[in-house]
Amino acid sequence: MKSRRLACSRAYGWMKFARTWTPNCVAKIRILPEHLVNQIAAGEVIERPASVLRELIDNSLDAGATKIDIDLEGSGRELISIRDDGGGMSRDDLLLSLERHATSKLVEGSNLFAITTLGFRGEALPSIASVSDMEVLTRDESSTAGCRIQLVGGDVAAEEAIAAPRGTLVRVRSLFFNTPARAKFLKADATELSHSIRTLRTYALAYPEVAWTFRHGESLQFVWPQTTLMGRLVDVFGSGIEEKVLHIEHTLRGVRVHGILGRKELNRRSRGDQFLFVNRRPFQSTSVAGVAKGALRDWLDDGEWPFYVLFLDLGIEC
Ligand SMILES: Nc1ncnc2c1ncn2[C@@H]1O[C@H](COP(=O)(O)OP(=O)(O)OP(=O)(O)O)[C@@H](O)[C@H]1O
Ligand SMILES: [Mg+2]
Repeated sequence: MKSRRLACSRAYGWMKFARTWTPNCVAKIRILPEHLVNQIAAGEVIERPASVLRELIDNSLDAGATKIDIDLEGSGRELISIRDDGGGMSRDDLLLSLERHATSKLVEGSNLFAITTLGFRGEALPSIASVSDMEVLTRDESSTAGCRIQLVGGDVAAEEAIAAPRGTLVRVRSLFFNTPARAKFLKADATELSHSIRTLRTYALAYPEVAWTFRHGESLQFVWPQTTLMGRLVDVFGSGIEEKVLHIEHTLRGVRVHGILGRKELNRRSRGDQFLFVNRRPFQSTSVAGVAKGALRDWLDDGEWPFYVLFLDLGIEC
């Protein structure tokens, strides 16, 4: 009896204590809803139309595309469309690709230190989908019909089986329609467009074996067929560039450096025409820019920067 009373009074004590503390004990931490998580991730991955273009180009290249057709409307916020002839996806894979952290590229942790693809996080498609009206049409070799899916702000709005060539078409419309704060940070249309064109030129230089077309609105801007690096330099910078460059090819301790350096005639007043690729991934490095400037100082006047397209291949067998 005594012990029961004791138990009761202890329980009563706890209840009183709990009641006193309840307001502070209500859990404040919540798991965020999926669409919000994707929008936050999009804030990191997708800064502007050119970031969408870069992510979609990465995906097409990783899928083994030999031809990539790009269409932009306006600044790219209105429409970014990219069609490739790569491996495509089955319906099941397409649905999975729209989930966060779903990737076909990274299977286990040890791969993290030997990544050979441009993407590996499994974040790009769901991030883009969460801040736009996105449509994906795709078919892989083993599927008889293609699959088309449309997502608005990350929610599935339509899905259908449809005839399609092998490969993938992604159309992104109304970028940042549901994140006005992000849209406000965009620059003038012409500036955003120039970022996208720079992205396209950069990838076209790194992947000359891929054919690229680029259309802006009604106007066909580039048709660049499959070629060599030198052929692509001519496509991007015009004929005559062949005589104004030096070829570089050097391998030391597992690092291969190759590409071209511009002669004096190609010196620039800004660093805009310095293209660096690490394992064919576009890369910006002030230290490489500084080394190139130092090495070529005899050719450079004050305020001039060298022109280069350099590839650093790391981890190659010697
Ligand atoms: N154009 C495409 N062709 C074929 N498969 C694609 C294409 N785009 C995406 N995928 C598939 O969808 C998956 C998810 O794409 P997503 O871009 O979201 O992630 P990722 O490329 O794996 O990594 P990251 O977020 O670093 O880009 C890819 O791993 C790939 O399997
Ligand atoms: Mg990707």
